[in-house]
Amino acid sequence: MGQRYLITGGAGFIGSHLAERLLARGDGVYALDDESTGSRNNIAALLEKPDFRFVPGSIMDEDKLGQLVGTCHFVVHLAAAVGVKYILENPLASIMTNVAGTERVLRYCARYEKPVFLASSSEVYGLQTRAPLKEDDFCVIGATSVSRWSYACSKALDEFMALAYHHKKAFPAVIGRLFNTVGPRQSAAYGMVLPRLADQAISGQPMTVYGDGSQTRTFTHVTDAVEAIIRLLDHPATWGQVYNVGGTEEISIRALAERIRTQAASQSEIRFIAYDQVYNHNFQDMPRRVPDIRKLRQATGFQPRIGLDAIIADVLADRRRQRRG
Ligand SMILES: NC(=O)c1ccc[n+]([C@@H]2O[C@H](COP(=O)([O-])OP(=O)(O)OC[C@H]3O[C@@H](n4cnc5c(N)ncnc54)[C@H](O)[C@@H]3O)[C@@H](O)[C@H]2O)c1
Repeated sequence: MGQRYLITGGAGFIGSHLAERLLARGDGVYALDDESTGSRNNIAALLEKPDFRFVPGSIMDEDKLGQLVGTCHFVVHLAAAVGVKYILENPLASIMTNVAGTERVLRYCARYEKPVFLASSSEVYGLQTRAPLKEDDFCVIGATSVSRWSYACSKALDEFMALAYHHKKAFPAVIGRLFNTVGPRQSAAYGMVLPRLADQAISGQPMTVYGDGSQTRTFTHVTDAVEAIIRLLDHPATWGQVYNVGGTEEISIRALAERIRTQAASQSEIRFIAYDQVYNHNFQDMPRRVPDIRKLRQATGFQPRIGLDAIIADVLADRRRQRRG
């Protein structure tokens, strides 16, 4: 066996793909997950593998966490409360997981001097309208009365903590700000746009676009995101730094819905729904969110390889498989 990795949130969407990839290159994986949004189904194919161990439990359990960090060579911290819908429905628990949980992970990584990748989010840019977004652009966060910003703030605080530990104790931490990451096994249940639109297109239901659909995003295939995470951990020159991790093909959500409908050969109508009918009355969305990934490319040579058409095709195939299963 090569190196041993602890993946917090290892039964989640990105965590399960990362585990597969690390096992394939000969590394060992411990996956710690409380199955709040992740699921054992995501790692069903890995459970029998000798170099894989699923550890049910929470990052809040310090004994378990400390033991696991102590026995692994690298830590990839993905466990978090995620998805706009989930955050709005569970605001307090989300803040606790994303702040107190991450503090525990970082504290043990610092104590045992284990290199850690911290999954942050493009949400930290908040209402910043610059495009493409650079890592040192201002984070423009909305009012505390709008609860979606708690996710952005908690991820920003995670970044501050990781950087503070790095500077104070010179411990190896690298931060990836992930932009919309999509692919097989992503749940549609917590407010993720692409799997939801794909499900609606396949089933012939109206495809629901929030607002007027002019807001733009980029999408990264999970295989590319996993490649970026591994490269960042494999390059010690990246420690103590923040990197955007995302795709470069900008598309409005309206155009995305049309493209999914065409690729699915679906007859679904595209229906526009006001934000306040989906979330609460003072929901705020970002008009545009596009990453500048030059810093990541320069440090690691990373370039996303899977374009949007292939991403949509892969998600549609996965959703069809799931419906059959
Ligand atoms: N998917 C994206 O587009 C995206 C974008 C930006 C950032 N991220 C970040 O990437 C990471 C992984 O996200 P994902 O998309 O795979 O979502 P996910 O929900 O599939 O993964 C998160 C995992 O963490 C687990 N978890 C939650 N609380 C836990 C706890 N207290 N203890 C142990 N496990 C816990 C969940 O059960 C789940 O398996 C998260 O930190 C998320 O904030 C994802």
